[in-house]
Amino acid sequence: MPNARQRIAFLGSLTAAILFAAWRVYERRFRERVVSHEALDDLEIARAFNRIARLPQFGLMRWFVARRAAAMVPAGHAADLGCGPGYLVVKLAQVAPGLHVTGVDLADEMLVEAERVARRSGLQDRADFKQGDVAQLPFPNGSLDLVVSTLSLHHWTDPVGVLDEIARVLRPGGSFLVADLRRDMSAPFYMLLWFATHCVVPRALRRINEPMGSRNAAFTPQEAAHLVAQSRLAGWRVTHGPLWLTIEGTRG
Ligand SMILES: C[S@@+](CC[C@H](N)C(=O)[O-])C[C@H]1O[C@@H](n2cnc3c(N)ncnc32)[C@H](O)[C@@H]1O
Repeated sequence: MPNARQRIAFLGSLTAAILFAAWRVYERRFRERVVSHEALDDLEIARAFNRIARLPQFGLMRWFVARRAAAMVPAGHAADLGCGPGYLVVKLAQVAPGLHVTGVDLADEMLVEAERVARRSGLQDRADFKQGDVAQLPFPNGSLDLVVSTLSLHHWTDPVGVLDEIARVLRPGGSFLVADLRRDMSAPFYMLLWFATHCVVPRALRRINEPMGSRNAAFTPQEAAHLVAQSRLAGWRVTHGPLWLTIEGTRG
């Protein structure tokens, strides 16, 4: 039987080990940006992402973005850049009956899911999808009223080039709202993301270190402001909460 001193020594060591492990996880928050996969172009990954994209916390973010974007531009032609399984396209079309929304994504596998989501919601008449790279948007100059995007900015190889493209395709007075994770998210969200990546998400996502990989590739609000300042996009501001940042505004 261990005596009292041995028990105290054991509990003390265990506590120190747990605190050390927690600190190691926590201090990673401040590391440099690590770029992640550009397209999520594997069927298993697309399906796994589709499953987690249906979780209420993602739904809440889409609801927030759709409401805010629809208040900026309630009618016309909108595009969702890096639309993935198409939930924001559908949400925006639901919230703003005057909008036609086109989702653009590099990954055919995501677009298969997106077409299905739009059909199931009965909104296929006001939603369509194009395969393409957001660095070369498939729209003529000044042809769009609204550009939105969620959780895709951190994947873009040339984010300044994409912001230039947004400036090109928007009509004067058109609006944009690009929302993404912020790398310097507050500690409780960081811990939750770490837990989700290691213990909760489907195996296909864990294999590519998602969603932590997205956090590692995300920008801080200061970095995002620096990116937009280098682009041709005018009339912007960067806002942020404990988990998200947004780049939003209206083209002059
Ligand atoms: C994490 S998913 C987010 C999907 C969706 N916007 C959402 O919020 O659920 C990122 C998406 O961006 C797409 N993507 C990444 N880089 C892209 C690019 N250069 N052009 C078009 N799509 C891109 C990926 O294929 C993927 O579907």
